[in-house]
Amino acid sequence: MAAGQRVCATAEIGTEEARRFTIDGIDVAVVRASDGSLHALADTCSHEEVSLSDGFVEGCALECIGHGSAFDLVTGAPNVPPATEPVAVYALTVEEDSVWVDTSTVLNQTASTS
Ligand code: FES
Repeated sequence: MAAGQRVCATAEIGTEEARRFTIDGIDVAVVRASDGSLHALADTCSHEEVSLSDGFVEGCALECIGHGSAFDLVTGAPNVPPATEPVAVYALTVEEDSVWVDTSTVLNQTASTS
């Protein structure tokens, strides 16, 4: 069985879509990039209290609707200010057409998980 918690079926996240889930009390944005890959990021922007899942997916980045910083879906790093700190990227696995996210496994260890 996959690690973490099942959050949804893979079909529930369309290409270049982001959805917010709360897993173990942590808000997580589950995102499908333009290449079809799935990613899980901390949902709160590292700049201000804005939900990243309300933003726009562009290629392999999620753009914050607050002030336009776009976070890389693999590294969690913003491309331009005003955000300067990465957001956490969590382990995500697909098993039997379900998406599982493990918030206890942060893939970019330098990121803040708050
Ligand atoms: S709140 Fe996200 S860039 Fe400002």
